[in-house]
Amino acid sequence: MIVTFEQEKSIIRTLLQRLNASEEEASATAEVLAEGDLRGFASHGLLRLPYIIRALKRGTIIANAKVGVVRETPATALIDGGHGLGHHVAMRAMRLAIEKAKKQGIGAVGVHNSNHFGIAGYYAEMAVREWLIGIVTTTTDALVHPWGGVEPLLGTNALAIGIPSKPSPILLDMAMSVAARGKLVEALKEGKPIPEGWAIDSRGRPTTDPKKGLEGALSPFGGVKGYGLAFVLEVLAGPLVGAAAGREVVGTLEPVEGYCTKGDFMIAIDPAAFGSADEFKVRVQRFVAQLKGSRKAPGVEEILVPGEPESRTREKRLREGAPIADEVWAELEQLAKELDVKLEKR
Ligand SMILES: NC(=O)c1ccc[n+]([C@@H]2O[C@H](COP(=O)([O-])OP(=O)(O)OC[C@H]3O[C@@H](n4cnc5c(N)ncnc54)[C@H](O)[C@@H]3O)[C@@H](O)[C@H]2O)c1
Repeated sequence: MIVTFEQEKSIIRTLLQRLNASEEEASATAEVLAEGDLRGFASHGLLRLPYIIRALKRGTIIANAKVGVVRETPATALIDGGHGLGHHVAMRAMRLAIEKAKKQGIGAVGVHNSNHFGIAGYYAEMAVREWLIGIVTTTTDALVHPWGGVEPLLGTNALAIGIPSKPSPILLDMAMSVAARGKLVEALKEGKPIPEGWAIDSRGRPTTDPKKGLEGALSPFGGVKGYGLAFVLEVLAGPLVGAAAGREVVGTLEPVEGYCTKGDFMIAIDPAAFGSADEFKVRVQRFVAQLKGSRKAPGVEEILVPGEPESRTREKRLREGAPIADEVWAELEQLAKELDVKLEKR
C-alpha cells in the first residue's frame, strides 16, 4: 500500500475533524505524521493514528484543547497543552520559542499536559526554516533500562538538533534506545530474531528474542553515555517543565486511565546573537566540506551529515509516495468505517 503525502494528510485531517479536532489541530497532526512516513520513520507516521483516534474517543486526548502559557519570561515560557493533540501543542511551543529567539537571541519553551508529538526533528526544522538553531526533546513511557539496571525506567526520549546550513540543513533526530520499540514488534510479527544489544530480557540478560526483549527493556544507545544522555533529557523534558519522569510517564504508547504525563522541551537560538550569521553559515559549510571530502572507510562511497539519509528518502517519497504496512491500513479502514468515512486508495 502506497500513499502520497497529500493523500495521507487528507486522510488524517478528515478522521480527526470527524472527532471534533479543529482545522489547526487536524492539519498540524496530519503534517507531522505524514512527514514521519516521508522520512522513513514509519513508527511515527500513519501507524500512530489509531492510537490518537482511540485516545480522542476515550477523552484522554482532548479535541479543541485549551493550550495556554502558564509562566513566562522574555526568553522562556511554560505551556499547558490542555491534553490536546501533541503535534499541535508542540508546534505552538516551537513557534513561541522562535518568536522569543528572534527578539532575545534565545527562546526556551517547556510543555506539560500534552501528548505524543511524533518526530522531534519536525519542530527543530521549524527553527531551521527561520535560520535559527532548533533543539527539541521529549519523554515517553519508560522503555529503556538504566546502565546496570534491569527495569525499564527511561523513555526513548527523542533528541533533535537542527542547524541552518546550505545547501541543505543539518538535522540530527534520534531516539535514546539502540532500536525503536516498533522494530521489536515488527521482528516479533515476522518471527525473526533481533540483533544482540537491542534489548535485555526481564532478568537483565541480553536477548535476541523480540518477545523477551519487549517483556524486558530496550538498551540505551552508546552504553553508559547514551544512558546518561537519556537521563538528563528526561529531567529537562520532565521535572523541569512540570511533567513526570521514569515509570510515572504514561500514555505515550496507548491511551491510559488518566491523561498522558509526558513533557517536551524546546530551544531556539539565533546564531546572530553570537556573531555574524553569515560567518556562521560559511564556517558550518567549511566544516561540512571537510567531512565530505575526508578519506572514506573501505566500501563507503559517501560521508553523510545527520539528516541527509532522511532528506533523500523524503525527496523520493514525495515523488513516489510512502509505503504503509497492510495491518496499519486495515486497522485504519476499520476505524474510519466506525466514523462513517471511506478511505480512498490510490
Ligand atoms: N515523540 C517521541 O516520543 C519519540 C521518541 C523516540 C523517537 N522519536 C522519533 O523517532 C525517529 C527515529 O529515531 P531513530 O533513533 O530510530 O533514528 P535513526 O537511528 O534512523 O537516525 C538517527 C540519526 O542518525 C542520522 N544518520 C543515520 N544514518 C546516517 C549516516 N550514514 N550518516 C550520517 N547520519 C546518519 C539520521 O539522519 C538521524 O539524524 C526520530 O524522528 C525521533 O524523533 C520520537
